[in-house]
Amino acid sequence: MGSAEEKVVAVIMVGGPTKGTRFRPLSLNIPKPLFPLAGQPMVHHPISACKRIPNLAHVYLIGFYEEREFALYVSSISNELKVPVRYLREEKPHGSAGGLNNFSDLIMEDNPSHIFLLNCDVCCSFPLPEMLEAHRRYGGMGTILVIKVSAESANEFGELVADPVTHELLHYTEKPETFVSDLINCGVYIFTPDIFTAIQGVSTQRKDRANLRRLSSFEALQSATRNSPSNYVRLDQDILSPLAGKQQLYTYETMDFWEQIKTPGMSLKCSSLYLAQFRFTFPHLLASGDGIKSANIVGDVYIHPSAKVHPSAKIGPNVSISANARIGAGVRLISCIILDDVEIKENAVVIHAIVGWKSSVGRWSRVQANGDYNAKLGVTILGEAVNVEDEVVVVNSIVLPNKTLNVSVQEEIIL
Ligand code: GDD
Repeated sequence: MGSAEEKVVAVIMVGGPTKGTRFRPLSLNIPKPLFPLAGQPMVHHPISACKRIPNLAHVYLIGFYEEREFALYVSSISNELKVPVRYLREEKPHGSAGGLNNFSDLIMEDNPSHIFLLNCDVCCSFPLPEMLEAHRRYGGMGTILVIKVSAESANEFGELVADPVTHELLHYTEKPETFVSDLINCGVYIFTPDIFTAIQGVSTQRKDRANLRRLSSFEALQSATRNSPSNYVRLDQDILSPLAGKQQLYTYETMDFWEQIKTPGMSLKCSSLYLAQFRFTFPHLLASGDGIKSANIVGDVYIHPSAKVHPSAKIGPNVSISANARIGAGVRLISCIILDDVEIKENAVVIHAIVGWKSSVGRWSRVQANGDYNAKLGVTILGEAVNVEDEVVVVNSIVLPNKTLNVSVQEEIIL
């Protein structure tokens, strides 16, 4: 066990506007890390998991979004968490490790013994205290959260080989073309402050190489600095791969749920995973109702206190309804995210869909999809202020903001 004075800091990498492009059209309105899953901003889930870390001194979010986009959220979560949460803005992307290193002086102000580093776009139970304990047992510079996935999907992630007894990371390849292992990197890490020395080592090596090239050719220098600036460092390729097998890095395998959130379809799946987790962590956030005084609730459902749901509506499972939404009489909602200020009119049906801010779905209309979270059109998405008129059916489609649909559509992207 560490001493009571040993402080810990958590850093969450939130990326920036150029990173969330696969999340369109939903990222047109809001930074992807603030998109609500189970009624809470995506980044709220890792932050609230940080509450369980002993001696947590600070939570930092590092990204290249404008500061004002996070200001409101950061001040409200700091009050709620009772631990200071700060957004640190990079002028431009420096890569997942370069971004961390950019703020090394500030992060080290608390003199932490350990630093958690979390990708914002992963959904899991974040077993952080368990990782800290395992890391103390293993020693070394860092411990990576890992999970077994299907062999077919493993190449979308960092694949790795670990010693089954010592848990040491023996080999690491980022998104390999040929299969290495079904054990993958979850994007959740704990490091000692030595991580900064490792990142700075990569930057220095790059500078030295560029200087050497400059001596031999001015042209080579130009292309080297353009392609790989010395302070752009990726955690996976530049740090994890070269340090594998050197008794520096270890792995902690989770047997719990884990998903990556790159697309709107996956956000619906992750919303359902977090709603299910609320049963154990925040049961007061789940709605209940038997259809007499309030709506009939089936399975895991979140309803914002300001939303108005007609008692004759039937809601769930896996539904999350945001602020000021109005759900009319006889409405049926299954597996969907209803965003702020949406109106779902009488007898409409929404299944496997995300209904964007200020949109409206007309009487007896259906907005639905087949629910294949990985397919491009497996979840129907309505962008902001989309108006689906009465008795219109929208199936497996994506509708960009500010459109009015007065005819039914199937498997279409409406630009
Ligand atoms: N602040 C900042 N600056 N954040 C960044 C930057 C940057 O320059 N580049 C990436 N990020 C953030 C992203 O927003 C994301 O949260 C995280 O860092 C990792 O993003 P990528 O580097 O684009 O990698 P990835 O998501 O495709 O894959 C990584 O995560 C997987 C788990 O989700 C890899 O580490 C994989 O090995 C891993 O399996």
